[in-house]
Amino acid sequence: MAAPVVLACNGEARTKALEAPLGPVPLVDVDPDPDAIEVSIVAAPGRWAFLPGKPADVWSYRDGNVDGDEGRVPGPMLLGKLGDRVTVHFRNELPEPTTLHWHGIKVPALHDGSNVSQMAVDPGESFTYEFTFTEAGTFWFHPHLSADEQIERGLYAPIVVRGEDDIAVDADRMLVLDDVKVESSGVLSPTITGLDLMVGRQGNVLLVNGERLPRFEAAAGGRERWRLLNTANGTYFNVGLPGHRLRVIGLDGGLLPEPYEVDAVVIAPGERYELLVELGGVEGDTLELQTQHYDRGHDLPDQGPRPLATFALTAPPASPANQSPAPRGQIDPLPVTADTPRRSFTLSEQEPANPGDEPRFFINDEAYPDVTRLVVGTDEVEVWEIVNDAEMDHPFHLHGTFFQVLDQPHLGWKDTVNVPRKSTVRIAVDFDNPGLWMYHCHILEHAERGMMGILQVG
Ligand code: C2O
Ligand code: CU
Repeated sequence: MAAPVVLACNGEARTKALEAPLGPVPLVDVDPDPDAIEVSIVAAPGRWAFLPGKPADVWSYRDGNVDGDEGRVPGPMLLGKLGDRVTVHFRNELPEPTTLHWHGIKVPALHDGSNVSQMAVDPGESFTYEFTFTEAGTFWFHPHLSADEQIERGLYAPIVVRGEDDIAVDADRMLVLDDVKVESSGVLSPTITGLDLMVGRQGNVLLVNGERLPRFEAAAGGRERWRLLNTANGTYFNVGLPGHRLRVIGLDGGLLPEPYEVDAVVIAPGERYELLVELGGVEGDTLELQTQHYDRGHDLPDQGPRPLATFALTAPPASPANQSPAPRGQIDPLPVTADTPRRSFTLSEQEPANPGDEPRFFINDEAYPDVTRLVVGTDEVEVWEIVNDAEMDHPFHLHGTFFQVLDQPHLGWKDTVNVPRKSTVRIAVDFDNPGLWMYHCHILEHAERGMMGILQVG
């Protein structure tokens, strides 16, 4: 195992009065400029205990500006605000090539860290990523090479970009959801079953911010903002807090113009949901955050409600924050007319013919990397029709821009949308970011086994 790597501090860390959400610690920002962020990230082998007291070998992100940082799962949070210029010094201390992909951030194509936009960062090599935060919201970063293995080993971390519209809440929480398959000794299981390849690796331990069943403290009656992110390879979360309605205030690309209420929210791999939750109950009560069964196909067993985390209620907030109205984003529907160019994408799967073979996954009957490169003009709006011909749901993800999901009641920006099995989802996409981009299923085993395509904008 590589020795811990610590990069020299090239400046003094300064707080910029940006309050970090509760959750993974923020990366140390060494740029004193209030509108610039400069951080250092190292990917390296490390140790992390998914089961208490039973550390496992993982791959994790370290803060290169923190002496002796040994890494964590998830990695440290990249925190900033709208308009910030971001510089990320990245060093690969893993035994294999990797990249950093900024899921949901509109980065320049050459800094997107995808298979088509960047040469891989080889072991021992470095790369400096530069981009600007052009949207406020909740995003994440992860590798884009052998993503099914690298993310599963622990390489993923949240990004929070604050906007001017931030609301008063009693707590703002980043809740990173994942599952891992661990053995009783606590180590990551090396076993990958045929089912794992078919539906995405199925974990036996659910994680919130890298911990099994964490216990949080929360003020009874308080109003909280929760930023939910699903980083699992293939598991869907259907998150609810029994006895509570959840107000959805934001999607992948930031706040909604019209929040809406649900009892539970289905979060496909790669997606984010922002919720505003008024915590009922009194001091001393415990609330349980759960994930319920979601039928995403393939006859996966109904395991009933499973606990994700508990909230131990403390005294109500001294001055409750829940007076102000829910925050709203300004979003105009993309102009879609009869003349808007249309394209159709059919998702399909092929089960292995013989035991021991791997399943294959296709978009329009092509499997990455043997794909036709699509070309789209810059500043064009297109309607994409995603036809899921398969026996299970597939979450469709597009790099470099956001889209709006048509034919549904909630207007918002998305970069990942679940396409339920045997159904069609239509999206309107605004292509304003030139370069080579990828689109793919965010079930990582599917993307790595063909369900991925290349798009050239401009
Ligand atoms: Cu989060 Cu192309 O991926
Ligand atoms: Cu898929």
